[in-house]
Amino acid sequence: MILPIFFIFSLIFASSSAAAQDFCVGDLSRSYGPAGYSCKSPSKVTVNDFVFSGLGKAGNTSNIFKASVTPAFAAQFPGVNGLGLSMARMDLAVGGVVPMHSHPGGSKLLLVVQGSILAGFISSNNAVYYKTLYKGDTMVFPLGLLHFQINLGETAAVAFATFSSPSPGLQITSLSLFGNNLLTELVAKTTFVGKAEVERLKSVLGGTNSGVFV
Ligand SMILES: *[C@@H]1O[C@H](CO)[C@@H](O)[C@H](O)[C@H]1NC(C)=O
Repeated sequence: MILPIFFIFSLIFASSSAAAQDFCVGDLSRSYGPAGYSCKSPSKVTVNDFVFSGLGKAGNTSNIFKASVTPAFAAQFPGVNGLGLSMARMDLAVGGVVPMHSHPGGSKLLLVVQGSILAGFISSNNAVYYKTLYKGDTMVFPLGLLHFQINLGETAAVAFATFSSPSPGLQITSLSLFGNNLLTELVAKTTFVGKAEVERLKSVLGGTNSGVFV
């Protein structure tokens, strides 16, 4: 008699503790750590934590890149926290470019749903892999590698990306190199780009020459 009761209790206990592991909706009011956000209390989680409605709308491409990336990463879509995946939408006006960039935290799959996009990445051996993608084509961009997308077509292009991380991160190479306040002389020395060109790029990309030697 005792044994079956114990068995039932342990089943209930096991299933309730398994349920606590089903998800970890990010608590955005707390800081982001190496393991992601802390979990929002399960009693406060609703279906809306698992739904993100921001990818149906075109991003604003009125900027120097003529491009827009709308992320559905953990910071915008806390339901993906802890699950190892996320999404984004990319809009490219005619002539638009997502400049050379990398996602330090995740590999990316890109699916073109409208127009055409010239996309490519550079391996750590500096081999270049690029191709014009058309509606229905998917390309994979391995973790951490530099990559780019350009719309050379005659219509606006739209693509959706999935990432192997809830927070893949985004580092835009030209902004990192020339949109900073590192002294122009140090940027020139460390990039092999001439000082005059570094000055020009800093003025275009929002960099300054206000850093100090330490
Ligand atoms: C798009 O961005 C530009 C530049 O920031 C702004 O002037 C314009 O109002 C925005 N358009 C829309 C539809 O939000």
